[in-house]
Amino acid sequence: MSSIVKNELLKRLFEAGGEPVSGQEIAEQFGLSRTAIWKYVKELEQDGYEIGTIRKKGYYLIQAPDLVNEANVQNHLATKTYGRNILYYETCPSTQLIAHDEAQNGAADGTVVISEEQTSGKGRLSRPWSSVSGKGIWMSVIARPQLTPQQAPQMTLVAAVAVTRAIEELTGIEPSIKWPNDILVDGRKVTGILTELQADPDRVKAIILGIGMNVNQEEADFPEELRDIASSLKLATGKEVDRAKLIAKILGYLELYVDMYVKHGFAPIKLVWEGYSNTMGKRIRAVMLHETIEGTAIGISDEGVLEVRLDDGSIRGIFSADIEIPK
Ligand code: BTN
Repeated sequence: MSSIVKNELLKRLFEAGGEPVSGQEIAEQFGLSRTAIWKYVKELEQDGYEIGTIRKKGYYLIQAPDLVNEANVQNHLATKTYGRNILYYETCPSTQLIAHDEAQNGAADGTVVISEEQTSGKGRLSRPWSSVSGKGIWMSVIARPQLTPQQAPQMTLVAAVAVTRAIEELTGIEPSIKWPNDILVDGRKVTGILTELQADPDRVKAIILGIGMNVNQEEADFPEELRDIASSLKLATGKEVDRAKLIAKILGYLELYVDMYVKHGFAPIKLVWEGYSNTMGKRIRAVMLHETIEGTAIGISDEGVLEVRLDDGSIRGIFSADIEIPK
């Protein structure tokens, strides 16, 4: 009950856009005293919300803290489904693990797990993912599109397009995508996406889209070994970026592009993806588990597979690799 009232109070404060909200009205709605509501206001202040009081009129929001909690994200959200259910943590080992459990237990399509910090963030190929507190976006989206398991790998590219578009729109910078799903700014990685699947042989049950984005880190926030290859949106723009607003935007584009993929297939997504790609037409090196090849990236197939023309003129399809662009 307590968090329901607190969330409702916060929602009303946001909706009022700085105008006063009557504590009396909320008290009546929940059958509580005005003192009880005042206690929730004090709790919100302890959480970092700046709230003013006008006698006989109520409470008004002066400023929200830089948190990626449910209320702050939903305040900017314009989706039907994605982000309507948010599970928020101050810290957790990995949002991806929590999202897997939630999906197994029937969480709704578009449920999002967000944490301020991860203590064992997971990257692709079981690599660790640095996830310092309060500076990035560490979230896992549970998507339940009507797809066959064969259509699932393309969701990685769908997510990459959604995230890139959201960054572009909110910050004005022009990120590029390195196949399949690294998002780069000035050649350094700002976002990684980890796509995992829960499926029956003939249908997708859930796709867990893990999105890790470096937003407000300074150089010193990155571990030594990442400083040359990783960047943050703040380092790229020189400005602090509103993480809650960016999450809402990402969820908006995810909902749009997933829907487009389900209804119209991969072709329209592929077009947008190719527009953002830094790989097409370039000479690349693909480092795979057991071999490394070099050639020219000529496109992606309708399955999201990277097509590379080798020096002998033959074409190779690459399903999974680390791509390097030789200097
Ligand atoms: C990559 O290796 O490029 C993918 C990184 C994905 C990191 C995100 S952060 C949120 C989610 N939780 C995790 O533990 N990993 C993903």
